[in-house]
Order: sequence, then structure tokens, then C-alpha cells
Amino acid sequence: EKSGYKHFMAKEIAEQPVVLADAQAHYIKDGNITLPVDLDFSAFDRVTMVACGTAYLACLTAKYWFEQIARIPVEVDIASEFRYREPPVPARTLAIFVSQSGETADTLAALHYAKSQGATILSVVNVTESSMARDSDMSLPILAGVEVSVASTKAFTCQLSLLLLLALKASSDRGAQSTEQVQSYLAHLQKTPALVSQSLNVGDAVKEAAKLVAEAQDILFLGRGAMFPLALEGALKLKELSYIHAEGYASGELKHGPIALIDKHVPVVVMAPRDALFEKTISNMQEVMARGGKVLLISDAAGIAEAGQGVWSTITMPEIEPVFAPILYAIPAQLLAYHTAIAKGTDVDQPRNLAKSVTVE
Ligand code: F6R
Repeated sequence: EKSGYKHFMAKEIAEQPVVLADAQAHYIKDGNITLPVDLDFSAFDRVTMVACGTAYLACLTAKYWFEQIARIPVEVDIASEFRYREPPVPARTLAIFVSQSGETADTLAALHYAKSQGATILSVVNVTESSMARDSDMSLPILAGVEVSVASTKAFTCQLSLLLLLALKASSDRGAQSTEQVQSYLAHLQKTPALVSQSLNVGDAVKEAAKLVAEAQDILFLGRGAMFPLALEGALKLKELSYIHAEGYASGELKHGPIALIDKHVPVVVMAPRDALFEKTISNMQEVMARGGKVLLISDAAGIAEAGQGVWSTITMPEIEPVFAPILYAIPAQLLAYHTAIAKGTDVDQPRNLAKSVTVE
């Protein structure tokens, strides 16, 4: 049921404030994290996260959170690489497998490998009656509700929200942050659904930008820190929906090669919440502009006032505590892909060559 929306993708983008709030209500009670599984991060020295596609990008984002908030080392792998590389899995490893469907063949095979090596297996899934949920030691549902659109949207933000909650749990269990600090993070996390709701208002600005983006042959997305995986996600969504060639880069990598691609035909989407790395990202953005690149700057009002002079286009986001920015900045990334697909007339819910659940490798 599309409930009045033109596409499942539009419906699922719009549902995010509600599903995020419901999922958080499920896992946070009276300001405390309540998990339905017996998970104590003090039993682990490291975390390995494995997934495919958008779920992999949620893992890459979560690496920043686990490392910065809980000070626990994290490795992230693409499932198809992990399963055949057969990496050593040290004792006291928590292996987390993230999958909307819970059926992705490579992720499931990677899970079985980690299990055979004695790791403790946690799956983070949307479909609770799935092979991954069944074969794990513990499984946590992201509670996004049924996702029909092939392009993952609400499952991604719900994965992010739950993984951030797990990073906070890890921080408590390991004593990496004070109780007050963890509670303040939790209070901020609970404000994200309302901010996501507010950020859905950028639709019209994104629609305008999408008309121009639809004309491009190549597009770059740039971000630093936890916004780097978001740049990858923006590029993945745009590729799969509009068939335009898009790449995400860590802003600091620009001058190590990709800057050679910049000319006036290449739009560059800069994802720049006002965090500790804002000035660095902006200086990379200026290097792009100096070479004639067309910049689409996504930041909050103050960030755009500070750095928006001379850019091609801007998208103004609500202000947010930087740690939570990846959840919020997923919205313009999704909307840009959606509106570019509409402008190009491609099949939004069922892009060519793609399947919702990849059960063969
Ligand atoms: C992208 C997308 C895919 C999936 C990937 C993993 O929008 O939907 O990249 O994220 O195929 O699927 P799951 O999460 O079911 O393992």
C-alpha cells in the first residue's frame, strides 16, 4: 500500500520520523537502554561488522561511533570479501552482521564463517523471521517496518539509530563515558526523529537541485569523518536510482587523485554539518570551486552563511549535535536520488538490474 504516495520510496522516506521514534521507544525506557538480549560489551575486546551495500555503509558510519564513543576497535568488511578472505577472528570478538532482509547470501555466509571461528554473533535485521536472525547468538530488530522500495531508506536510518544505541551501550559497559554523558547522548538521540521530520522540508530545494543533477554524467559526494560513509551512501543511492555515475570520497582524499575529475560539468555534493572538521571540509570544497566545480553544499543555516558564497546551490538542514548528523544527512541524500530519478523518468521503486533481496552471490 502506497497510502497516497507516488512511490514506495517516497512513502518510506516520509515514514522515517515515526519508525525512528517507535524503534527508540522500544529500546530506551526511562532514559536507559533496554535490550531484549544479554549483551555485555565488557566481554569483548573488538567488534567486527560485516554487511553489503547500504547496510555496509551503516556499519562504516557506526565504526566512527564505536571507536569515538566507546573506544573499542572496530573492523568493517564487505561480506563478499570477508567470506572468502577468511580472516583470523581473535578471541573476545563480537561479530555484528547488519541486513535489512536477513537473507543476503554473502552476509549469511560471512556470518556462518565467523560462527565457525568462535566469534559471538549478533545480527541486526529488519526481517525478524530471517536466516540471519535464526543463525545468530543474538538478534536485534531495527523495527523499520516492511521496506518495499529496492533502494533502502528507512532501514538505513533505523540501522544507524540502533547501531548508535549499541555504541552507547558499549560505552556504558566499558566505562568509556560517564553515566551522565551517555544519558545526554540518549536524550539527543531521542530528538533526532523530530529533526528528521524537519529535514523532510528540504524536498523543494532538493527538487530544484535534482533538475540540474539529472543533466550530469558524473557526480562526486564529499564528506569527512562519519560523513564520509554518508557521501558513499549518497553516491550509491544516486547511482542505483538515476543511473548517473556517482562516487563518494573522503574530502581529504580529493587531492590524491579525484580532483583531476573536476570541471564545470561535474556537480560536487558536499555534506558538511558544522562539526569539528567543518573548516577542513570547506577548504576542500574551495579547492573544488577554484577548479570550476559546481558545488551543492548541504549544511545548516550558520554553515551556509559562513561558507555558501559562490556555491552553485545549497540545502539548509536543521542544526544538530554533530554525532547525530549522519542520521539527519541521510535524508537529503535519499531525496536527491529520488528527485533525480523522477527528473530522469527512471523506475524509482524497481531500478533496472537490482533485486530487493540478493539471495545468490
Ligand atoms: C541499496 C540497497 C542495497 C542493500 C544490500 C544489502 O539501496 O538496498 O545495497 O543495502 O543489497 O541488503 P540487506 O540489507 O537486505 O542485506
